[in-house]
Amino acid sequence: MKFFVDTAEIDQIKELNDLGMVDGVTTNPSLIAKSGRDILEVTKEICDMVDGPVSAEVVALDADDMLAEGRKLAKIADNIAVKVPLTWAGLKTCKTLTDEGIMVNVTLCFSANQALLAAKAGATFISPFIGRLDDINLDGLELIEDIRTIYDNYGFETNILAASIRSANHMSDCAKIGADVATAPPNVIKAMANHVLTDKGLAAFMADAKKAGIKIV
Ligand code: E4P
Repeated sequence: MKFFVDTAEIDQIKELNDLGMVDGVTTNPSLIAKSGRDILEVTKEICDMVDGPVSAEVVALDADDMLAEGRKLAKIADNIAVKVPLTWAGLKTCKTLTDEGIMVNVTLCFSANQALLAAKAGATFISPFIGRLDDINLDGLELIEDIRTIYDNYGFETNILAASIRSANHMSDCAKIGADVATAPPNVIKAMANHVLTDKGLAAFMADAKKAGIKIV
């Protein structure tokens, strides 16, 4: 499973990218607003740093304006994936941009039917939002499973990009289901390293090393 990092904070992307943990980046208007940066400038900086796809989201609602925004975003760099919402206008925009050879990430997906439409429109990525479904007591992981089954049944090449990930458990659950990509905030990716038995075991090893006066360098 590929790891995308879900943030527009340059320092946080750099830290994970230097460790080889970043296969791509996703942003959205809320994350850009949080960064306080100009969308074109910060997106360019991210694209220059990261080799993989960098999702940048349109803010228009009708298809013509979305298309104009998508084409402008795509000019930032070759690794841009234009992010469009899962609306009829978004699907139209997806089809046109895909036909022009531009990667498209269809976002705000909350049902298997929506994912089916995005695949038919040629999306490079579909972004089902796990956490926001869990927030309203629906099963986000079940949606990932359903989309995996449907895409495999018909050989759709659209990548399942599990989004709205809130915990380290979401990451391993998505990997077990077979999501192609999971995008998570940096703190969730870092939390994947934590285990209480690692901490406990390390404390015991350190105590014994001190007692025995073990020195290596
Ligand atoms: C990624 O593409 C989404 O924009 C993001 O994962 C949404 O996450 P949230 O539901 O935690 O805001």
